[in-house]
Amino acid sequence: MNNNLKFKNGKFTIMTLGDLHENLYIDNRDKRKRREDMHNLVKAGILTYKPDLIVLLGDTLSEKDGSEDFKDYKSALSDILKPVIDSGIPFTYVLGNHEHDQGQEEKIVEAYKEIETCIGENDPTCPRGNFNCNLLVKNTEGTDDILNLWLIDSNNCCDDPEVSIYDWVHEDQIEWYEKTAQRIKDEHGGKTIPAIVFQHTPVYEEYELLREAKPLEKLYGAVEGHHKFSDKKYILKDGVEGFLGEGPCAPCYNGGQFQSWKKTGDVIGAFFGHDHLNDFTGYVDGIMLGQNKTSGFCCYTDGCRSLVRIINVYEENPWKIESHVRHFKEFGLKCTCLGPIMSTLHDRDSIALHQLGYIGAGIAGAAGVAAIVKKIIKNKKS
Ligand SMILES: [Fe+2]
Repeated sequence: MNNNLKFKNGKFTIMTLGDLHENLYIDNRDKRKRREDMHNLVKAGILTYKPDLIVLLGDTLSEKDGSEDFKDYKSALSDILKPVIDSGIPFTYVLGNHEHDQGQEEKIVEAYKEIETCIGENDPTCPRGNFNCNLLVKNTEGTDDILNLWLIDSNNCCDDPEVSIYDWVHEDQIEWYEKTAQRIKDEHGGKTIPAIVFQHTPVYEEYELLREAKPLEKLYGAVEGHHKFSDKKYILKDGVEGFLGEGPCAPCYNGGQFQSWKKTGDVIGAFFGHDHLNDFTGYVDGIMLGQNKTSGFCCYTDGCRSLVRIINVYEENPWKIESHVRHFKEFGLKCTCLGPIMSTLHDRDSIALHQLGYIGAGIAGAAGVAAIVKKIIKNKKS
């Protein structure tokens, strides 16, 4: 499909889907139900918001395909994306660490390319990653490009886990981004076009949306940071909207991507997947950073809080983003794949239940040890 992206009646709406972690084969009822529930969420999102573009934020189908001609992957991808494909709405994607894990990146990119409604083509001049490109969006009249979208490959894991668990967008990719941004500017009479970035792994600066939890907050509502940030517990800063369910798994090394956005001056917002329990948005130095929880039911989730994120940009001021999320239950959908307890729980409650589970297991463990010790002492005495 050609990229004919344009605003409609002065508005451009993007719906993002986070980490579906879908299966290659549906070989039991449980997997079928999980896919059906995800399909119902995606269908409801499409019907409600009528987006102009759908973006998959990576880790969409994360199983290796050993079949001839990669046919099983292609067939699974078509089924996973059925509501997206059937809608006829153009969609695009980024690669997640789990797509890289399979070591079949080129075949995956090819599989997406074969889907008629999938847009975006990897720019071979980008020296790293398998899917890096940009898409320009025209105004309602179709006369001018007024918005740009970057699809960036945030790579896999870092070679040196001492430095960082997850990899980052490297200097050579940043150089490609800066050169391409300059070319776009030159082609538009020296005018900078506002841009939104989509990539799987969040940037290092996402931690600037958090603050260290106070002692009481640590008991309920705070999360432990990831890797090098794990010595502290965090909550969202005032003014940051949404939910923090886990320490953001950003790279622990700052590769300078965010600084490059600031220097280049085009990026107004960046949206990430990767963390399945986080759905917050906030501003760092005027750039909106937004998380997308999982939109599926195949990975760790928190009850029925799988969601879609909506991003609106208005032609009257394309330098401004409006974004919100909508959860599965908020669409009035009934979940079939989760049990009665998990279906009822919401965000913090499901996490609290996990914590209670750990505490319960700890108490049971301690009681068990005490009973054994008591028995040993009793045996010795007798
Ligand atoms: Fe993931």
